[in-house]
Amino acid sequence: MIERHRFHSICPYFAMFPEAFVRRNVLAWSKRNDIVLDPFSGRGTTVFESLVNGRKAIGCDTNPVAACLSMAKADPPALKAVLARISDLRKKSAQFSSRAAEVKDEFFMACFHQETLQQILFLRKRLDWRESRVDCFIAALALGCLHGESHRTEACFSNRMPRTISTKPAYSVRWWKKNACLPPKRDVFSILTAAAAYRYQSPLPLIKGRVVEGDARKASSMFRAYKEKVKLVITSPPYLDITDYHEDQWLRLWFLGGPMTPISGQGKDDRHRIVEHYWLFLSEAWAGIMPLLQDSAYVVVRIGGTRLQADELEHGLLTSLNSTGRKSWLCEHQQSDIKNGQKRVFSRGSSKVGIEHDFRFQVA
Ligand SMILES: C[S@@+](CC[C@H](N)C(=O)[O-])C[C@H]1O[C@@H](n2cnc3c(N)ncnc32)[C@H](O)[C@@H]1O
Repeated sequence: MIERHRFHSICPYFAMFPEAFVRRNVLAWSKRNDIVLDPFSGRGTTVFESLVNGRKAIGCDTNPVAACLSMAKADPPALKAVLARISDLRKKSAQFSSRAAEVKDEFFMACFHQETLQQILFLRKRLDWRESRVDCFIAALALGCLHGESHRTEACFSNRMPRTISTKPAYSVRWWKKNACLPPKRDVFSILTAAAAYRYQSPLPLIKGRVVEGDARKASSMFRAYKEKVKLVITSPPYLDITDYHEDQWLRLWFLGGPMTPISGQGKDDRHRIVEHYWLFLSEAWAGIMPLLQDSAYVVVRIGGTRLQADELEHGLLTSLNSTGRKSWLCEHQQSDIKNGQKRVFSRGSSKVGIEHDFRFQVA
């Protein structure tokens, strides 16, 4: 059995696909040094697993949480630099004046112990994750530790909460009161130091990737330097009317500089509800990546949902790919059961999701 690279599980993400799915497709449909692209990169599974397997890799995502995680994995700094920066931040944090007072919000006071919240606020202010790859990596580690099942693990900062999604403030506060849960006192810097040492026990890939925080529609201009070179796309776009990635990750988005409350509809393509708008969005996304693709490139798409059957998905994907002006044809279609974790997550808003479909197309 292949040992799992420890970067993969830095932070969970909604609707993430397993690295084994990526590995299988990377090994089957590309060669070493080929470029693999994921225009909806999520937590960066495609990009990172491609790098691990000796491919070049690029990706983009509009969600800052996804961008931070994918960027951290695509271009990780040396462990030494990460540990030195955490130690430096710890020293500076001790001089940080009492800013917790700024956050009087009931949710934050109940979610984090006051001293832990001070450290989190300090990191939130200081980590320059968009500009510094060391800070980006530390921010990614912090995202993975920000909330979780703190009654089971010492390695998270928050009161009890699922690790996959951030629950809504009012619901969380009610639940903590009802179950008499108090926020644990956690030293954020010790947790980050241990997390870094643990993650770096897996060897770093020799190749670095590039991930951009941005819209798939603009992929060809983001990656202009790579024009006409992508051999393989492995991706999973947002599914029709399933989830709002921004709302689900609101606390992590707050940590990265976002608002203090969940806001729905921030990611305008996260949850299309109208079928025609959905396919229009995917047509535009495919048009955004087409100029980057080689002749005969493969596009592997994992897609699911409650409202579209397999034949509608196949028709919609093929039509939207062909609407770009390049001819695509279907090579393969497989149905795959959603594994436990994902099924549970998907089931929240629906009663009958259980199936995902994997399609492989070739583009002339
Ligand atoms: C199904 S998830 C991808 C999960 C990913 N395969 C993984 O393993 O983590 C879909 C992603 O599309 C992103 N997204 C939504 N609209 C987008 C757009 N216009 N351009 C790029 N990414 C977008 C969402 O933020 C979300 O991260």
